[in-house]
Amino acid sequence: MDIKVTTIHGTISTTRRDAVAVFFSEWNMAPQAAEKTEHKKLMENFPSALRKKIETAIQLNEFTGKENESITLYTESLINSPRLLLIGIGESKKLTLEKFRRAAATAAKKASSLKAASLAILLPEPVTSETLAAAEISQAIVEGAILSLYKFDKYQKPNNEKKKLHSIEIITPNSRLEKEIHIGAKNGTMLCEAVYHTRDLENAPSNEIYPETLADHALQSGKKYGFSVTIFDKRKIESLKMGGVIGVSKGSENPPRFIILEYNVKAKKHGTIVLVGKGVTFDTGGISIKPAASMAEMKMDMSGGAAVIGTFEAIAQLKIPVHVIGLIPAVENMPSGSAIKPGDIIRHYNGMTSEVDNTDAEGRLILADALGYASQYRPELVIDLATLTGACVVALGHLASGMMGNDQTAMDDLKTAGEKTYERVWQLPLFDEYEKQIKSDVADVKNVGGRWGGAITAGWFLKKFIGDYKWIHLDIAGTAILEEALDYAPRGGSGVGVRLLVEFLKNVHR
Ligand code: BES
Ligand code: MN
Ligand code: ZN
Repeated sequence: MDIKVTTIHGTISTTRRDAVAVFFSEWNMAPQAAEKTEHKKLMENFPSALRKKIETAIQLNEFTGKENESITLYTESLINSPRLLLIGIGESKKLTLEKFRRAAATAAKKASSLKAASLAILLPEPVTSETLAAAEISQAIVEGAILSLYKFDKYQKPNNEKKKLHSIEIITPNSRLEKEIHIGAKNGTMLCEAVYHTRDLENAPSNEIYPETLADHALQSGKKYGFSVTIFDKRKIESLKMGGVIGVSKGSENPPRFIILEYNVKAKKHGTIVLVGKGVTFDTGGISIKPAASMAEMKMDMSGGAAVIGTFEAIAQLKIPVHVIGLIPAVENMPSGSAIKPGDIIRHYNGMTSEVDNTDAEGRLILADALGYASQYRPELVIDLATLTGACVVALGHLASGMMGNDQTAMDDLKTAGEKTYERVWQLPLFDEYEKQIKSDVADVKNVGGRWGGAITAGWFLKKFIGDYKWIHLDIAGTAILEEALDYAPRGGSGVGVRLLVEFLKNVHR
């Protein structure tokens, strides 16, 4: 990540950047006295000649403060920066952290399209006193700006004529807020770095990221950020009788890996959280092969694993006081003469058997081993993240991850974290009656449950393999793999899960 974030106590007039952005709320929509004073107060940030230019734009109706709106004014030496970006943030009474992320994303994308190399963003003053703290707003602004600028371009010739936006400065005219804003911006920057790494892993093609190299990345990352990493190779996995991991990887030239991360063992006495991430580095479907159209996006079928690695990077940097274990079964699902076939029966780590009716339902087969393996940690809670089913994308699209589990309190807490970070989750039911869809005539369970309720029957399959612990399953098939850009995530890997889990883990022992 080559973007530097700084914070200063200063004014729009004193900063010297290629562009300065200021957020305006939609005062016309709420013409009460309160908004008028707020607007007036905001206008005091500008020298009077510049204020006139802004008022002209408003009078001409070119700018109304609506969300996603932005216009550029040339400041002609009225302030030290040549461009002023007016960014709409919507109704001032309805401000949320997400609106700040989006407004900052609009500002950053606009500045970048104008070829600005540096951008200053004014932290709006009146709103900070209300329900949102200055540190949170500052963090949200950093998240929106940095995440919106992500590009997976390392395989492309560098485009030299286009200067990249490489510095973002948050300004506050209020000296009392300086410290808070600095903390928020620093935390935001660390999180974004972890999200960038997660997106890089997701977007990397499968000839770069396969089980061995995913494990190498986890090792490097553990060294850099300070958590321990243990890698099991194929022989070790065989000796542990992880039949799902072995079975799914059988068709591939690339041997499997089982990646174990551990952070902050000192905090063990307060309880252990286990994060399990699906690490299918490419999913062809195996013998039950997928159609060619959009098969390429299955290079991102390790997004759950990537999110676990990214979460460890973030919690290690933020020094979150929780003992966390990460488990990533990593395989490549290929068809070949040695691949598993429909009808094969697998024996998993915990001794249970599954009938492989469809080799494309491979994620649950490897997760079954990992969920069994998790028991030895006597976890307080296990959360698994997996790009598990197309059915979940049909149900929820790209805006919410499917959530299932056996503990409502933990799920409610995760939902709260989802609303705060806007990595939203939506609970699907695990009614008992769904279980019969995965009954097998020949094994303990069958790996597919028929056409209907596919996200839920996949969840039920996992539930058969959990130990005596609290558990949440997140189906991130839609939220991790974006077919189109969102406000601050381009098409491709979104890095979903990192901000969500960090927020959840921050509050877990409160
Ligand atoms: N990795 C896929 C799920 C997926 C699909 C993720 C689309 C992202 C976008 C998973 O391994 C899979 O193939 N699931 C099958 C299950 C079916 C065979 C029961 C599916 O969803 O079609
Ligand atoms: Mn599959
Ligand atoms: Zn898959």
